[in-house]
Amino acid sequence: TVDLEQMREIGAKRGLDVQEVTWVHHWTSGLFSFRIKRPQSFRFQSGEFIMIGLMGPEGKPLLRAYSVASPAWEEHLEFFSVKVQEGALTSRLQHLQPGDHIFLGRKPTGTLVVDALKPAKRLVMVGTGTGLAPFLSVLRDPETHEKFEQIIITHTVRQSEELAYRDFLEEEIRTDEIFGELLKDRFTYYPTVTRGDFHRKGRITDLIREGTFREELNLTVEDRPDTRFMICGSIAFNKDMIEILEGWGMNEGTRNDPGEFVVERAFVG
Ligand code: A2P
Repeated sequence: TVDLEQMREIGAKRGLDVQEVTWVHHWTSGLFSFRIKRPQSFRFQSGEFIMIGLMGPEGKPLLRAYSVASPAWEEHLEFFSVKVQEGALTSRLQHLQPGDHIFLGRKPTGTLVVDALKPAKRLVMVGTGTGLAPFLSVLRDPETHEKFEQIIITHTVRQSEELAYRDFLEEEIRTDEIFGELLKDRFTYYPTVTRGDFHRKGRITDLIREGTFREELNLTVEDRPDTRFMICGSIAFNKDMIEILEGWGMNEGTRNDPGEFVVERAFVG
């Protein structure tokens, strides 16, 4: 169509690829996931984000940062998004259908990579809302399993319906051909709900501070030096988590100077 030709032309001028949507899944009225074809040349490290978007007003691409939720070895790229009715991009992105096209940047980047963490026994990935996305990628990266013996993903949302990927993290990954065996007895999914009914209620920050998280996982304060953290959520959540971890004497790591934790804001459209 003319639109696609125009996207390709504008994309080419701005260093953007144009890729086809292959799958869309709506979790709730406010959350959805979608996949696009992955260009042969596109390489990224699990946990990184990339700019994606649609044609905006005045013939300019409208782009936002999205963490890749799929592992680096998959043939597609998957993204997990909110739907904001007033959101410039997500108000439109939520109507994507297979066969539609989106812009895809060429420079994946980000801080939630295992290389920015010092070696340790355990990796705890702590996320709220769509902050879960990068962890879904990191969880399925063989490098993560070479580096860490135990892996924990926590996900805090307001209502239990917002626990997107719950079936995947509770069931499917355990019977997965590759990861089932690898994750057996080594992976824990720890969902928490703050405003609705659920078997585990409360903010993860409170559950950590009160010692509930530790006790449920049979960990002690002595396990802290052998534990690394990845943090991804809202600004307020990140700030609270950093305060907890720095209070334990932990330092934020970078690729050049690995530390005990890494942080990224969950990107909202
Ligand atoms: P709460 O319901 O107590 O605000 P949001 O939808 O606002 O992005 O929040 C997603 C989840 O993150 C909610 O369960 C929310 O809990 C939780 N949350 C928000 N701010 C913080 C924070 N500073 N520390 C811990 N959890 C938070």
